[in-house]
Amino acid sequence: MPVITNIADLKKLHERRTPRMFYDYAESGSWTEQTFRENTTDFDKIRLRQRIAVDMTGRTTKTKMIGEDVSMPVALAPVGLTGMQNADGEMKAARAAETFGVPFTLSTMSICSIEDVASVTTKPFWFQVYTLRDDDFMKRLLDRAKAANCSTIVITVDLQVMGQRHKDIKNGLSAPPKLTPRSILNLATKVPWGLEMLQTKRRFFGNIVGHAKGVEDPTSLASWTNEAFDQSLNWERIAQLRRMWDGKVILKGILDAEDAKLALNVGADAIIVSNHGGRQLDGALSSIRALPSILEAVGDKIEVHLDSGIRSGQDVLKAIAMGATGTYIGRAYVHGLGAMGEAGVTKALEVIHKELDTTMALCGETAVTDLGRHNLLIPKDFEGQWQD
Ligand code: GLV
Repeated sequence: MPVITNIADLKKLHERRTPRMFYDYAESGSWTEQTFRENTTDFDKIRLRQRIAVDMTGRTTKTKMIGEDVSMPVALAPVGLTGMQNADGEMKAARAAETFGVPFTLSTMSICSIEDVASVTTKPFWFQVYTLRDDDFMKRLLDRAKAANCSTIVITVDLQVMGQRHKDIKNGLSAPPKLTPRSILNLATKVPWGLEMLQTKRRFFGNIVGHAKGVEDPTSLASWTNEAFDQSLNWERIAQLRRMWDGKVILKGILDAEDAKLALNVGADAIIVSNHGGRQLDGALSSIRALPSILEAVGDKIEVHLDSGIRSGQDVLKAIAMGATGTYIGRAYVHGLGAMGEAGVTKALEVIHKELDTTMALCGETAVTDLGRHNLLIPKDFEGQWQD
C-alpha cells in the first residue's frame, strides 16, 4: 500500500480503482471547467502569516457548526452517486464522519437510502434536498428524513437546471452503469470494485427508485433532473420548503451578496457559499473569492459556510480565517472512499485535520476559533475590480 500523505495521493488511487464514468463524474466541472479550476487555484493566491515563538501546546480544532459540536469545521458535503464510487459508499462515509466527529450530509441522489445510512449511524446526520416540483415526494422525503432522525436539511438552491458536464454525457453516466462496449472494456479493468459491487444490492438511486412517480429512466441523474426539478423556483417556494421542515435548515448554493441578503428572509440557520463545485455556472467566481463580499453583506446576521475547492487543511484554515464558520469537502472525501472505502474517508479526514492543525500552529494560533483575517495575506485585487 503506498504511503498516503495528502488528498492527491487518494485521488490517484481513486482514479485507478473506480470505473471511469464515476471517477469522471466526481472530477469534473461544467463546460470549460474554468470555475472548477479556479475554486482550487484561488485558494493558492491567499498567503499565510507565519508567527513564531508562540506557545503552540494544547491546540484544538474543535468548534461548532449551526450549534453542533464538530471536531473540526469540516462537514462532508452531499455528493450524488457516492455508492457507485465504492459499494455502500454513503454508509461507509457516514460511519467515518461520525467516528471523526464531523457532520455527514446525505445527498438525495445517493445510492444508499436515508434508511440505510440511519441503520449504520447512531447520531443524527444531515440530509440534502433539491427544490423539486412534486410536493408529495418532497413531503415523503422529509418524513423519511425525520423518521431517520436527521437533524438538518440542506436545501440546494443552485440547481433548477443542470450545468452541462461534457464527460458525463460522453460516458453515458448512469447508476448502475449501462453496459456498452466502452463501459465493459473499462469495467473489465476494475475487478475489485466490481466484486464488491456484486455483493451489495444497493446499486440504484435508493431515495428515488420505488419512491418517486413518473421518472422515466430512474438510472439517469440527468433525466431525473429534467423531469423532477422545479424550474419555476422562487424565494417564496424556498421559504415554503423551509417551513415544511421543523429542524435546522441550511441553504446551499449562494454566490452573490444580493442573494445572500434575500436568503435572510427564509429563516435558515446557515447559508453555504458555493458554486456547486464548479459544476453549475461555469464562469462564475470561485467560492473563496465570493466569500468576502457575502460576509460583508450578511456575516453578522447568519452563519456563513463555504464549499467548492477545499482539498487541504490549509484551504479550511483560509476559509475560516476569512470568516466562514464551517467548510465542506466533497471530492476530497470521495477520493478517499474510491481509493479504499471507509478507511479512505477516515484517511482523508485525518490528512485534512493534520494539515489544519499544523498550519494553525505555524501561524501562531492554538484554537480554530481564534483564526481571523490577521492570519492571512489577501491580495488587494483578490475579489476583482468589475465594471458597473
Ligand atoms: C448533483 O447535484 C451534481 O452536481 O451532480
